[in-house]
Amino acid sequence: MKTIRNKKFVSLIPKEVLESRIKVLAEQLNNDYRGQNPIFVGILNGSFMFLSELFKNLELQCEVSFIKVKSYEEMSSSGHVAELIGLSENIEGRHVVIVEDIVDTGQTMAKVMPEFENQKPASLSILTLLHKKEATKVDIPLNYVGFEIKNKFVIGFGLDYDGYGRNIDEIMILADQAKEE
Ligand code: IMP
Ligand code: MG
Repeated sequence: MKTIRNKKFVSLIPKEVLESRIKVLAEQLNNDYRGQNPIFVGILNGSFMFLSELFKNLELQCEVSFIKVKSYEEMSSSGHVAELIGLSENIEGRHVVIVEDIVDTGQTMAKVMPEFENQKPASLSILTLLHKKEATKVDIPLNYVGFEIKNKFVIGFGLDYDGYGRNIDEIMILADQAKEE
């Protein structure tokens, strides 16, 4: 049990489980992108820890970059997605993998994907550590998913509650919501 600001959280996905699943995802990517020189684009802030864990396990010749968007206010999606830092690389003709911490309503991906597509990459895939299937309102093709989770609020491993909790080394769920299971 951990208290972040005024809320209590309990473990949902332990560190070891995250790490071994990320190894499997990396192996898949090592096979799928062999010889293709892909660029991985993390969505800040949430994806930084997932992307760094993933990167340690990639054996590809590859690049990394980031963009920054914001949609969440405290514990729910605001529905409005603002892009705070755009992509500085030219991705025309490149194999691009967008890396997300979590796909919730899907609005962030719905906003970001067309902007990437406009730049005519050779291919565009989405890799997300977590997916809240029941919450997703927009039909987004998710190519690689770490874990499907219930429509509950989670933190840790890069994900935050009002800016805090990103430094926790596992995924934790709001204690009140864990009891509802
Ligand atoms: P979407 O646009 O609704 O799909 O939301 C995507 C973004 O909202 C993610 O990249 C996260 O930053 C944030 N988010 C969604 N669900 C959670 C959660 O349970 N905890 C913390 N952040 C979340
Ligand atoms: Mg995010």
